[in-house]
Amino acid sequence: IATVPAIAGSKVRSGSRPLVMVTAYDAPGARIADDGGVDMILVGDSVAMAVLGMPDTLGVRVRDIAHHVAAVRRAQPRALVVADLPWLSYHRGRRRAVEAAGKLVRAGAQAVKLEGGRERLDVIDALVRAQIPVMGHLGLTPQSANVFGGMVVQGRSIVAAERILADAMALEQAGVFAMVLEGIPAPIASVVTARVGVPTIGIGAGAGCDGQVLVFHDLLGFADGHRPRFVKTYAELGAAAREAVAAWAKDVTEGAYPDDAHAYRASTELAAWAER
Ligand code: KIV
Ligand code: NA
Repeated sequence: IATVPAIAGSKVRSGSRPLVMVTAYDAPGARIADDGGVDMILVGDSVAMAVLGMPDTLGVRVRDIAHHVAAVRRAQPRALVVADLPWLSYHRGRRRAVEAAGKLVRAGAQAVKLEGGRERLDVIDALVRAQIPVMGHLGLTPQSANVFGGMVVQGRSIVAAERILADAMALEQAGVFAMVLEGIPAPIASVVTARVGVPTIGIGAGAGCDGQVLVFHDLLGFADGHRPRFVKTYAELGAAAREAVAAWAKDVTEGAYPDDAHAYRASTELAAWAER
């Protein structure tokens, strides 16, 4: 059973196996993830691009995440359900952040994730005091894409790497139970992982982390368009789904579907009535 304390204690250097987290946004996705044996399901604000057709994560609201969290939790996964706090839901004071996180917990989240470093310590303290477990997120944080000038790998200079390391140590001090490291050079992620006592979950951050996370739709080959370097696709479900729909559409237009095997029969009496 995945619990916050169990996750918090999962450091590879202490003999734990790497943690596995995947996003899911609905009940079938959560069942597939859980059957795959993941430790954590992230109801990420990546729902914006993966499901809602938005160009980035900035359009997502707390009510959107809550809606998807509720669907995921109805699948009753064994995995820990972590929900993203959307952009601006934790940038306007402790009280608003606790209210936003509270909505996600009431929807079924067991922990929340938020992006940023030392500028978030006050808000993390408020959430922790409200008994809401917090996961951090550093590096290429997508809610900062406009500041970064796009989805640009972070931590590429010594100054930038030192800033990420200092942020990571500050997040640990503030009480996060784990942190995502996204889009940073692998050696930087390894240094951060060595210097903090809570697990690091990498995405585009190399093999030196205490776990890995991927977006469900990326891992399964649903995403059309650009696939970032770190994405490894383990299936091509997008292509498979397109072929399946096209095959069914062809059968319908050619009169091959439905055949007798996919239709309901009538009793002899009813068949006779229908043929009068
Ligand atoms: O929203 C998301 O999917 C995420 C992961 C990529 C870490 O934040
Ligand atoms: Na996210």
